Amino acid sequence: MKLVAKTFFGLEEVLADELKQLGAKDIEVGNRVVTYEGNKELMYKSNLWLRTAISILIPIESFKFKNEHDFKKKLSNLNFNKYMAVNKTFAVKGAVNSKEFSYTKYPMLLLKDAIVDFFNDKYGQRPSVDQKSPNILFDLHISENNCTISLNSSGAPLFQRGYRKSTGEAPLNEALAAGLIMISGWDQKSNFIDVFCGSGTLPIEAALIANGIPPQIARKQYSFMYWPDFDQQLWNQVLKSAPAVPKRDLDFKIIGSDTDPEVVKMARNNIKALPLGKTISFEIKDFKDFEAPEDGTLIINPPYGERLNDDSVFDLYKEIGDYFKNKLPGYNCWVLSSNMDAFKSLELKPSSKIRIYNANLSCDFRKYQIFKGSLIEHKYGVKK
Ligand SMILES: C[S@@+](CC[C@H](N)C(=O)[O-])C[C@H]1O[C@@H](n2cnc3c(N)ncnc32)[C@H](O)[C@@H]1O
Repeated sequence: MKLVAKTFFGLEEVLADELKQLGAKDIEVGNRVVTYEGNKELMYKSNLWLRTAISILIPIESFKFKNEHDFKKKLSNLNFNKYMAVNKTFAVKGAVNSKEFSYTKYPMLLLKDAIVDFFNDKYGQRPSVDQKSPNILFDLHISENNCTISLNSSGAPLFQRGYRKSTGEAPLNEALAAGLIMISGWDQKSNFIDVFCGSGTLPIEAALIANGIPPQIARKQYSFMYWPDFDQQLWNQVLKSAPAVPKRDLDFKIIGSDTDPEVVKMARNNIKALPLGKTISFEIKDFKDFEAPEDGTLIINPPYGERLNDDSVFDLYKEIGDYFKNKLPGYNCWVLSSNMDAFKSLELKPSSKIRIYNANLSCDFRKYQIFKGSLIEHKYGVKK
Protein backbone atom coordinates (compact mmCIF):
# COMPACT_ATOMS: atom_id res chain seq x y z
CA MET A 1 0.00 0.00 0.00
CA LYS A 2 0.95 3.63 -0.39
CA LEU A 3 1.99 5.39 2.83
CA VAL A 4 2.55 9.07 3.53
CA ALA A 5 4.77 10.25 6.39
CA LYS A 6 4.25 13.88 7.39
CA THR A 7 7.10 15.91 8.85
CA PHE A 8 8.35 19.45 9.47
CA PHE A 9 9.82 21.73 6.81
CA GLY A 10 13.53 20.95 6.47
CA LEU A 11 13.37 17.38 7.84
CA GLU A 12 12.14 15.65 4.68
CA GLU A 13 15.54 14.24 3.63
CA VAL A 14 16.30 13.00 7.14
CA LEU A 15 12.93 11.26 7.23
CA ALA A 16 13.59 9.69 3.81
CA ASP A 17 16.88 8.29 5.21
CA GLU A 18 15.06 6.88 8.21
CA LEU A 19 12.56 5.22 5.87
CA LYS A 20 15.34 3.72 3.77
CA GLN A 21 16.75 2.13 6.90
CA LEU A 22 13.33 0.70 7.76
CA GLY A 23 13.20 -0.98 4.35
CA ALA A 24 10.63 1.27 2.63
CA LYS A 25 10.39 1.14 -1.19
CA ASP A 26 9.67 3.83 -3.81
CA ILE A 27 10.50 6.68 -1.42
CA GLU A 28 9.61 10.13 -2.75
CA VAL A 29 10.41 13.36 -0.95
CA GLY A 30 7.81 16.15 -1.08
CA ASN A 31 7.10 19.34 0.80
CA ARG A 32 6.74 18.35 4.47
CA VAL A 33 5.90 14.79 3.40
CA VAL A 34 7.67 11.64 2.26
CA THR A 35 5.63 9.03 0.38
CA TYR A 36 6.59 5.36 0.14
CA GLU A 37 5.30 1.85 -0.47
CA GLY A 38 4.98 -0.80 2.21
CA ASN A 39 2.77 -3.28 4.01
CA LYS A 40 0.98 -3.33 7.35
CA GLU A 41 4.15 -4.36 9.17
CA LEU A 42 6.03 -1.36 7.76
CA MET A 43 3.15 0.91 8.80
CA TYR A 44 3.42 -0.37 12.37
CA LYS A 45 7.22 -0.05 12.28
CA SER A 46 6.94 3.48 10.87
CA ASN A 47 4.83 4.53 13.85
CA LEU A 48 7.18 2.94 16.36
CA TRP A 49 10.53 3.86 14.81
CA LEU A 50 10.40 7.07 12.78
CA ARG A 51 11.96 9.82 14.88
CA THR A 52 11.23 12.73 12.55
CA ALA A 53 7.68 11.87 11.38
CA ILE A 54 4.60 13.67 12.70
CA SER A 55 2.08 11.11 11.46
CA ILE A 56 1.71 8.18 9.07
CA LEU A 57 -1.23 8.42 6.68
CA ILE A 58 -2.79 5.82 4.41
CA PRO A 59 -4.68 7.34 1.48
CA ILE A 60 -8.02 5.50 1.15
CA GLU A 61 -10.11 7.54 -1.28
CA SER A 62 -9.08 9.94 -3.99
CA PHE A 63 -11.38 11.78 -6.42
CA LYS A 64 -11.92 14.96 -8.41
CA PHE A 65 -15.04 17.06 -7.82
CA LYS A 66 -16.67 19.86 -9.81
CA ASN A 67 -18.24 21.89 -7.02
CA GLU A 68 -19.64 21.64 -3.49
CA HIS A 69 -22.71 19.70 -4.63
CA ASP A 70 -20.56 17.19 -6.51
CA PHE A 71 -18.20 16.89 -3.49
CA LYS A 72 -21.14 16.01 -1.20
CA LYS A 73 -22.45 13.48 -3.73
CA LYS A 74 -19.06 11.75 -3.99
CA LEU A 75 -18.79 11.59 -0.17
CA SER A 76 -22.25 10.01 0.04
CA ASN A 77 -21.09 7.14 -2.23
CA LEU A 78 -18.23 6.09 0.09
CA ASN A 79 -18.36 2.96 2.24
CA PHE A 80 -17.04 3.95 5.68
CA ASN A 81 -17.68 0.47 7.07
CA LYS A 82 -14.29 -0.55 5.69
CA TYR A 83 -12.52 1.94 7.95
CA MET A 84 -14.35 2.05 11.26
CA ALA A 85 -17.03 0.42 13.37
CA VAL A 86 -20.01 2.49 14.48
CA ASN A 87 -19.05 2.19 18.17
CA LYS A 88 -15.71 3.98 17.61
CA THR A 89 -15.25 7.72 18.04
CA PHE A 90 -13.83 9.71 15.15
CA ALA A 91 -12.65 13.14 13.98
CA VAL A 92 -11.73 14.79 10.69
CA LYS A 93 -8.65 17.01 10.33
CA GLY A 94 -6.65 18.13 7.33
CA ALA A 95 -5.75 20.92 4.95
CA VAL A 96 -7.94 22.60 2.33
CA ASN A 97 -6.82 24.98 -0.38
CA SER A 98 -9.58 25.39 -2.97
CA LYS A 99 -11.61 28.14 -4.63
CA GLU A 100 -14.68 25.94 -4.07
CA PHE A 101 -14.42 26.39 -0.29
CA SER A 102 -13.61 29.81 1.15
CA TYR A 103 -14.22 28.51 4.70
CA THR A 104 -11.58 25.78 4.89
CA LYS A 105 -13.18 23.89 7.79
CA TYR A 106 -16.43 23.46 5.81
CA PRO A 107 -15.40 20.40 3.71
CA MET A 108 -14.23 18.72 6.92
CA LEU A 109 -17.70 19.27 8.39
CA LEU A 110 -19.18 17.79 5.19
CA LEU A 111 -17.01 14.67 5.54
CA LYS A 112 -17.97 14.36 9.20
CA ASP A 113 -21.68 14.61 8.26
CA ALA A 114 -21.22 12.03 5.46
CA ILE A 115 -19.71 9.54 7.95
CA VAL A 116 -22.49 10.09 10.50
CA ASP A 117 -25.19 9.81 7.81
CA PHE A 118 -23.62 6.62 6.42
CA PHE A 119 -23.85 4.81 9.77
CA ASN A 120 -27.23 6.30 10.61
CA ASP A 121 -28.71 5.08 7.32
CA LYS A 122 -27.11 1.64 7.62
CA TYR A 123 -27.53 0.86 11.33
CA GLY A 124 -29.78 3.60 12.72
CA GLN A 125 -26.82 4.54 14.95
CA ARG A 126 -24.60 7.63 14.92
CA PRO A 127 -20.88 7.33 15.75
CA SER A 128 -19.62 10.00 18.17
CA VAL A 129 -17.21 12.72 17.22
CA ASP A 130 -14.28 13.25 19.61
CA GLN A 131 -12.06 16.13 18.52
CA LYS A 132 -9.51 15.65 21.31
CA SER A 133 -8.62 11.98 21.23
CA PRO A 134 -10.64 10.15 18.60
CA ASN A 135 -10.23 6.41 17.97
CA ILE A 136 -10.30 6.92 14.21
CA LEU A 137 -8.76 10.03 12.65
CA PHE A 138 -9.58 10.93 9.03
CA ASP A 139 -7.31 13.31 7.15
CA LEU A 140 -8.91 15.37 4.39
CA HIS A 141 -6.60 16.97 1.85
CA ILE A 142 -8.10 19.21 -0.84
CA SER A 143 -6.06 21.04 -3.42
CA GLU A 144 -8.38 22.94 -5.82
CA ASN A 145 -10.71 20.21 -7.19
CA ASN A 146 -8.68 17.20 -6.07
CA CYS A 147 -9.62 15.44 -2.87
CA THR A 148 -7.71 12.77 -0.97
CA ILE A 149 -9.09 11.18 2.16
CA SER A 150 -6.58 9.31 4.31
CA LEU A 151 -6.63 7.42 7.54
CA ASN A 152 -4.18 8.79 10.06
CA SER A 153 -2.69 5.60 11.50
CA SER A 154 -0.88 7.45 14.30
CA GLY A 155 -3.75 9.42 15.83
CA ALA A 156 -2.08 11.84 18.26
CA PRO A 157 1.05 13.22 16.56
CA LEU A 158 4.16 11.09 16.87
CA PHE A 159 6.08 13.84 18.67
CA GLN A 160 3.80 13.06 21.62
CA ARG A 161 6.13 10.27 22.62
CA GLY A 162 4.64 9.61 26.04
CA TYR A 163 7.82 10.35 28.04
CA ARG A 164 7.45 14.10 28.56
CA LYS A 165 5.55 14.76 31.78
CA SER A 166 6.38 18.48 32.09
CA THR A 167 8.32 21.14 30.22
CA GLY A 168 9.85 24.55 30.77
CA GLU A 169 9.04 27.49 28.52
CA ALA A 170 9.54 27.03 24.77
CA PRO A 171 10.46 23.33 24.76
CA LEU A 172 11.69 21.95 21.45
CA ASN A 173 9.37 19.60 19.63
CA GLU A 174 10.68 16.04 20.07
CA ALA A 175 10.60 15.20 16.33
CA LEU A 176 12.40 18.45 15.54
CA ALA A 177 15.02 17.73 18.23
CA ALA A 178 15.65 14.26 16.75
CA GLY A 179 15.90 15.81 13.27
CA LEU A 180 18.46 18.39 14.44
CA ILE A 181 20.58 15.63 15.98
CA MET A 182 20.49 13.64 12.73
CA ILE A 183 21.27 16.72 10.61
CA SER A 184 24.24 17.50 12.87
CA GLY A 185 25.85 14.21 11.84
CA TRP A 186 26.73 13.40 15.48
CA ASP A 187 28.69 10.14 15.25
CA GLN A 188 27.09 8.53 18.34
CA LYS A 189 30.62 7.63 19.42
CA SER A 190 31.69 10.93 20.98
CA ASN A 191 30.13 13.11 23.68
CA PHE A 192 26.84 14.93 23.18
CA ILE A 193 26.03 18.04 25.23
CA ASP A 194 23.32 20.69 25.45
CA VAL A 195 24.11 23.49 27.90
CA PHE A 196 20.66 25.15 27.52
CA CYS A 197 18.75 21.87 27.88
CA GLY A 198 15.51 23.06 29.50
CA SER A 199 13.37 19.98 30.10
CA GLY A 200 15.94 17.88 28.24
CA THR A 201 14.49 17.20 24.78
CA LEU A 202 17.80 17.19 22.86
CA PRO A 203 19.80 14.99 25.28
CA ILE A 204 16.85 12.61 25.69
CA GLU A 205 16.38 12.19 21.94
CA ALA A 206 20.18 11.78 21.58
CA ALA A 207 20.20 9.04 24.22
CA LEU A 208 17.31 7.21 22.50
CA ILE A 209 19.19 7.38 19.18
CA ALA A 210 22.53 6.28 20.63
CA ASN A 211 20.92 3.37 22.46
CA GLY A 212 18.95 2.25 19.39
CA ILE A 213 15.70 2.54 21.36
CA PRO A 214 12.56 3.43 19.38
CA PRO A 215 11.30 6.97 20.03
CA GLN A 216 7.83 5.66 20.94
CA ILE A 217 9.02 3.15 23.53
CA ALA A 218 6.83 4.86 26.19
CA ARG A 219 3.79 5.44 23.97
CA LYS A 220 0.80 3.15 24.37
CA GLN A 221 -1.84 4.40 21.91
CA TYR A 222 -2.06 4.63 18.11
CA SER A 223 -5.13 5.07 15.95
CA PHE A 224 -4.42 1.87 13.94
CA MET A 225 -5.25 -0.13 17.09
CA TYR A 226 -8.94 0.83 16.59
CA TRP A 227 -9.10 -0.20 12.92
CA PRO A 228 -11.19 -3.23 11.94
CA ASP A 229 -8.07 -4.95 10.54
CA PHE A 230 -5.78 -4.36 13.54
CA ASP A 231 -3.36 -7.30 13.85
CA GLN A 232 -2.44 -7.55 17.54
CA GLN A 233 -0.04 -10.44 16.92
CA LEU A 234 1.90 -8.56 14.24
CA TRP A 235 2.06 -5.44 16.42
CA ASN A 236 3.40 -7.55 19.34
CA GLN A 237 6.08 -8.94 17.01
CA VAL A 238 7.09 -5.43 15.88
CA LEU A 239 7.26 -4.29 19.51
CA LYS A 240 9.20 -7.38 20.59
CA SER A 241 11.86 -6.92 17.93
CA ALA A 242 12.66 -3.41 19.25
CA PRO A 243 15.31 -3.17 21.96
CA ALA A 244 13.84 -1.95 25.23
CA VAL A 245 17.07 -1.67 27.20
CA PRO A 246 20.04 0.66 26.66
CA LYS A 247 23.32 -0.52 25.23
CA ARG A 248 25.44 -0.96 28.35
CA ASP A 249 28.73 -0.02 26.77
CA LEU A 250 28.35 3.63 25.73
CA ASP A 251 31.86 4.94 26.28
CA PHE A 252 30.92 8.59 25.86
CA LYS A 253 28.69 11.00 27.72
CA ILE A 254 25.29 12.53 26.97
CA ILE A 255 24.77 15.52 29.25
CA GLY A 256 22.19 18.26 29.53
CA SER A 257 22.63 21.31 31.73
CA ASP A 258 20.60 24.40 32.44
CA THR A 259 20.77 27.25 34.91
CA ASP A 260 17.17 26.77 36.07
CA PRO A 261 16.86 24.05 38.77
CA GLU A 262 13.13 23.64 38.05
CA VAL A 263 13.60 22.63 34.40
CA VAL A 264 16.48 20.29 35.29
CA LYS A 265 14.13 18.59 37.75
CA MET A 266 11.62 18.20 34.88
CA ALA A 267 14.31 16.74 32.61
CA ARG A 268 15.26 14.19 35.29
CA ASN A 269 11.59 13.36 35.71
CA ASN A 270 11.07 12.97 31.99
CA ILE A 271 13.66 10.21 31.68
CA LYS A 272 12.01 8.12 34.38
CA ALA A 273 9.61 6.65 31.79
CA LEU A 274 12.53 5.64 29.54
CA PRO A 275 14.96 2.73 29.74
CA LEU A 276 18.06 4.92 29.44
CA GLY A 277 19.89 3.73 32.54
CA LYS A 278 23.03 5.71 33.22
CA THR A 279 23.60 6.79 29.64
CA ILE A 280 22.35 10.34 30.26
CA SER A 281 22.76 12.91 33.05
CA PHE A 282 21.61 16.42 33.85
CA GLU A 283 23.37 19.23 35.73
CA ILE A 284 22.25 22.58 37.14
CA LYS A 285 24.81 25.06 35.80
CA ASP A 286 25.18 28.37 34.10
CA PHE A 287 26.62 27.34 30.72
CA LYS A 288 29.82 29.32 31.40
CA ASP A 289 30.56 27.02 34.36
CA PHE A 290 29.85 23.78 32.53
CA GLU A 291 33.04 21.71 32.15
CA ALA A 292 32.56 19.76 28.94
CA PRO A 293 34.17 16.35 28.44
CA GLU A 294 36.80 16.28 25.69
CA ASP A 295 35.57 16.33 22.05
CA GLY A 296 32.04 15.87 20.85
CA THR A 297 28.94 17.58 19.52
CA LEU A 298 27.01 20.37 21.20
CA ILE A 299 23.52 21.38 20.09
CA ILE A 300 21.81 24.30 21.79
CA ASN A 301 18.51 26.10 21.49
CA PRO A 302 19.30 29.18 23.58
CA PRO A 303 16.77 31.97 24.27
CA TYR A 304 16.02 33.82 21.03
CA GLY A 305 15.61 37.12 22.80
CA GLU A 306 11.94 37.86 22.17
CA ARG A 307 11.52 38.58 25.83
CA LEU A 308 15.03 39.71 26.77
CA ASN A 309 15.62 43.43 26.64
CA ASP A 310 17.57 44.64 23.64
CA ASP A 311 21.20 44.32 24.56
CA SER A 312 21.14 41.36 26.90
CA VAL A 313 20.49 38.87 24.08
CA PHE A 314 23.57 40.16 22.21
CA ASP A 315 25.63 39.91 25.42
CA LEU A 316 24.37 36.34 25.90
CA TYR A 317 25.33 35.28 22.36
CA LYS A 318 28.75 37.01 22.73
CA GLU A 319 29.34 34.92 25.88
CA ILE A 320 28.19 31.78 24.05
CA GLY A 321 30.74 32.49 21.26
CA ASP A 322 33.51 33.03 23.84
CA TYR A 323 32.51 29.80 25.61
CA PHE A 324 32.78 27.85 22.35
CA LYS A 325 36.22 29.30 21.57
CA ASN A 326 37.69 28.94 25.06
CA LYS A 327 36.06 25.79 26.41
CA LEU A 328 35.04 23.61 23.49
CA PRO A 329 38.07 22.94 21.28
CA GLY A 330 37.44 19.78 19.27
CA TYR A 331 33.67 20.27 19.32
CA ASN A 332 31.14 20.64 16.53
CA CYS A 333 28.80 23.28 17.94
CA TRP A 334 25.31 23.77 16.50
CA VAL A 335 23.00 26.65 17.41
CA LEU A 336 19.27 26.91 16.60
CA SER A 337 17.93 30.44 16.79
CA SER A 338 15.47 32.76 15.05
CA ASN A 339 17.55 35.82 15.98
CA MET A 340 19.76 36.50 12.92
CA ASP A 341 21.34 39.60 14.53
CA ALA A 342 22.21 37.72 17.69
CA PHE A 343 24.07 35.09 15.60
CA LYS A 344 26.54 37.85 14.65
CA SER A 345 27.36 38.37 18.34
CA LEU A 346 28.82 34.84 18.46
CA GLU A 347 31.71 36.32 16.43
CA LEU A 348 32.32 32.99 14.74
CA LYS A 349 32.01 31.97 11.11
CA PRO A 350 29.47 29.17 10.58
CA SER A 351 30.58 26.28 8.38
CA SER A 352 26.97 25.56 7.44
CA LYS A 353 23.52 27.15 7.78
CA ILE A 354 20.23 25.31 7.46
CA ARG A 355 16.76 26.89 7.44
CA ILE A 356 14.39 25.21 9.92
CA TYR A 357 11.01 26.17 11.38
CA ASN A 358 10.63 25.91 15.15
CA ALA A 359 6.86 26.07 15.61
CA ASN A 360 6.07 29.00 13.30
CA LEU A 361 9.40 30.79 13.81
CA SER A 362 11.80 30.77 10.90
CA CYS A 363 15.18 29.77 12.37
CA ASP A 364 18.72 29.06 11.27
CA PHE A 365 20.51 25.94 12.45
CA ARG A 366 24.19 26.92 12.22
CA LYS A 367 27.33 24.86 12.66
CA TYR A 368 30.57 26.16 14.20
CA GLN A 369 33.59 23.90 14.10
CA ILE A 370 35.90 24.72 17.00
CA PHE A 371 39.34 23.48 16.07
CA LYS A 372 41.98 22.45 18.56
CA GLY A 373 44.89 24.89 18.30
CA SER A 374 44.79 27.47 15.52
CA LEU A 375 42.98 26.84 12.24
CA ILE A 376 46.34 26.96 10.37
CA GLU A 377 47.75 24.31 12.69
CA HIS A 378 44.63 22.24 12.14
CA LYS A 379 44.74 22.58 8.35
CA TYR A 380 48.48 22.26 7.67
CA GLY A 381 49.79 20.55 10.81
CA VAL A 382 52.20 23.46 11.55
CA LYS A 383 52.24 25.92 14.43
CA LYS A 384 51.66 29.60 13.56
C1 LIG B 1 14.51 27.82 24.70
S1 LIG B 1 14.83 27.11 26.25
C2 LIG B 1 15.50 25.55 25.83
C3 LIG B 1 14.42 24.52 25.71
C4 LIG B 1 14.94 23.12 25.57
N1 LIG B 1 15.64 22.88 24.32
C5 LIG B 1 13.80 22.10 25.74
O1 LIG B 1 13.52 21.35 24.80
O2 LIG B 1 13.14 22.10 26.79
C6 LIG B 1 16.25 27.99 26.79
C7 LIG B 1 16.80 27.52 28.13
O3 LIG B 1 17.99 28.27 28.39
C8 LIG B 1 18.14 28.35 29.80
N2 LIG B 1 19.13 29.39 30.09
C9 LIG B 1 19.03 30.74 29.94
N3 LIG B 1 20.19 31.32 30.31
C10 LIG B 1 21.06 30.34 30.65
C11 LIG B 1 22.43 30.33 31.09
N4 LIG B 1 23.11 31.45 31.26
N5 LIG B 1 23.00 29.14 31.31
C12 LIG B 1 22.32 27.97 31.15
N6 LIG B 1 21.01 27.93 30.76
C13 LIG B 1 20.40 29.10 30.51
C14 LIG B 1 16.74 28.62 30.28
O4 LIG B 1 16.60 28.27 31.65
C15 LIG B 1 15.90 27.77 29.34
O5 LIG B 1 15.60 26.52 29.94
